[in-house]
Amino acid sequence: MLKNKKILITGGAGFIGTHLFETLIKKDNYIIVIDNFNECYYSGKEKNLAKVSQNHEISKDYEIIKGDLLDDSLYSKISNDIDIIFHLAAHAGVQYSMHNAEQVTRNNVVGLVNLLEFARKIEIKKFVFASSSTVYGNPTYTPVDEDHPKNPICPYGISKLCGEIYTDYYFREYSMPITSLRFYSVYGPRGRPDMVVGKFFNLVLQNKEIVIYGDGEQLRDFTYVSDIINGLVLASEKTESSGQAFNLGWSNPISINLLVNKMYELANKPKKVSYKEKKKGDMDITHADITKATKILNYSPQVPIDEGLRKTYEWQIETDKH
Ligand SMILES: NC(=O)c1ccc[n+]([C@@H]2O[C@H](COP(=O)([O-])OP(=O)(O)OC[C@H]3O[C@@H](n4cnc5c(N)ncnc54)[C@H](O)[C@@H]3O)[C@@H](O)[C@H]2O)c1
Repeated sequence: MLKNKKILITGGAGFIGTHLFETLIKKDNYIIVIDNFNECYYSGKEKNLAKVSQNHEISKDYEIIKGDLLDDSLYSKISNDIDIIFHLAAHAGVQYSMHNAEQVTRNNVVGLVNLLEFARKIEIKKFVFASSSTVYGNPTYTPVDEDHPKNPICPYGISKLCGEIYTDYYFREYSMPITSLRFYSVYGPRGRPDMVVGKFFNLVLQNKEIVIYGDGEQLRDFTYVSDIINGLVLASEKTESSGQAFNLGWSNPISINLLVNKMYELANKPKKVSYKEKKKGDMDITHADITKATKILNYSPQVPIDEGLRKTYEWQIETDKH
């Protein structure tokens, strides 16, 4: 596990970013968080990061820079002796991207290129890029390995694929040690309220109806956040991961209908579900083949869906009390 390193986390106030912060800060690392705390599709990021950082009372071990990767003046505020960059900042919503393609493209592609230029100048020792399973689009076979054709069906997925092309370029052209990780439907405490698990738990607990788009038989490879954090750390440690992309999933998808049943069972509440027409941009199935990540990164996801949902539910109950 990474120790005594100087680490930059972009998007460090977001869902996955706060978990990475929490994990790495415990290991005597110095953490720099960059986040613009945007409220485009959910709010509360400033509060989430404050909670996580205050929990540890080690304010000398981190700094938080409120800034935007699109703003050139940001880069002069970041120190030059960083060892590792975890680039998590992005507009991450699939549906948001369907109506805001230009904004998402600028943010996710130009923001990344600005950061890559900064990383090149400081001769970064390792760069890890958060990509997404959406780069594949609807699969032609499952489970989906890294060589599967890339046919994204939403601007967000396209922006991540562009990002991967740029990371490949910086690896080839500048020998930048850089790895792309394709995350699959990440869930857990502090999960994004615009994503299915966070959104549905909120509705279940408020006794409100869940609306499922499509017939609910679409399959999702839900992956618990601590498994993703392990994958991020492993990728940053393995030299041989550079110049490559890896799937990070649980590799055992379930349908949205089954997910909803599990949620109602946990909450012990009567089911209230209705169905509407499938939304454009939503994939029919996501299913990661994690053989490559297992072999090269030693990635081994540990948290089955029932355990992950229980932990998320318990966190949600606690949060609602305060
Ligand atoms: N959550 C998932 O299931 C999932 C799946 C696949 C990929 N990913 C990727 O993982 C990363 C983290 O996702 P998340 O779920 O934590 O999302 P999130 O929205 O919670 O976190 C992203 C953070 O980036 C910040 N940000 C966005 N644009 C910025 C910019 N230009 N400058 C500075 N900060 C900026 C946001 O304010 C936010 O705090 C993203 O790159 C996302 O695309 C997530």
